[in-house]
Amino acid sequence: MPRVVVVGSFNVDHAWHCAQLPRPGETLAGEYATGAGGKGFNQAVASAAAGAATTFVCALGDDDGGRLARRLAASHGIDLRAHQAATATGTAGIFVDAEGGNSIVIGAGANAALTPAFVAAQGEAIAAADVVLAQLESPVATVVESLRLARASGAHTVLNPAPANAACARELLLVTEVLTPNETEFAALLACHCGDTVDPAALGGMDEAALHRLCRILLPRGTLVLTLGAAGCFVSHREDNLRGDSVPHYRCPAAPAQVVDTTGAGDAFNGALAAGLALHPQRPFAAVVRQATRFAALSTERPGASSAMPSASEVEARYGPD
Ligand code: RIB
Ligand code: NA
Repeated sequence: MPRVVVVGSFNVDHAWHCAQLPRPGETLAGEYATGAGGKGFNQAVASAAAGAATTFVCALGDDDGGRLARRLAASHGIDLRAHQAATATGTAGIFVDAEGGNSIVIGAGANAALTPAFVAAQGEAIAAADVVLAQLESPVATVVESLRLARASGAHTVLNPAPANAACARELLLVTEVLTPNETEFAALLACHCGDTVDPAALGGMDEAALHRLCRILLPRGTLVLTLGAAGCFVSHREDNLRGDSVPHYRCPAAPAQVVDTTGAGDAFNGALAAGLALHPQRPFAAVVRQATRFAALSTERPGASSAMPSASEVEARYGPD
């Protein structure tokens, strides 16, 4: 069975839906909901829902949040490998506006205690993986170790460099085959690694060849998938890429959606992308990306993060066969 290992965060999400996002000094009334999130967990749920056998490596507190993670992982059929931290389970405060846009603050909590040694102790799961997927809500040294072990055993590596403000080391880019930033994360990486200043808001409208050049400078040896929200995504391959695709760069439009909450849409995309790469080793990359955009679109039609991840059959019912 195709296997995905996700290394990353689990958070208890506290979300408020309000008419608009609060401005500094402002107090607003909103509808409150709590649920399970964390970019790592959301991506693991998305991968499992897309049909891949999924392992999730994380750190949890000995508290209600930790118990929630264990219960939900079991209900999604996820093989959970959790380090028991002395600190409380991670948290996120999320504001969602009437258009489904959001602002998020995370409290790392136990996620900060996910060590390279704990990941190395899951070596047999990583060795059995087809794809290893990580994000930046875990310590960078731990993410480096995860992707390094994956490459050493021949698994493909996908790094979702989110959130944007985390320090993304050059070492990390060297073990990344597929990098999936959004506009803000891409601009931050370019500033940090290439000394280039680009306006994230201008990226969606940029000329394809110029965008491709920037991608090649940032990730000369890998595939870069720049996610552009409602504008879909832009893919840039090196010459001798993952799947032998002959088109070096192209855009992939977003699937249509009646958006209520975009929280976790990027996670739906990344989890489905990793699952698609594992499930369909012969399929062109563009087809795997197109299917991932459908998972992301459908996730925005439901409130919440991990609870919004659609299954493969729901995606098929909405958008037609894969
Ligand atoms: O990507 C969405 C996620 O970001 C939320 O679930 C929240 O926990 C933060 O990690
Ligand atoms: Na959602």
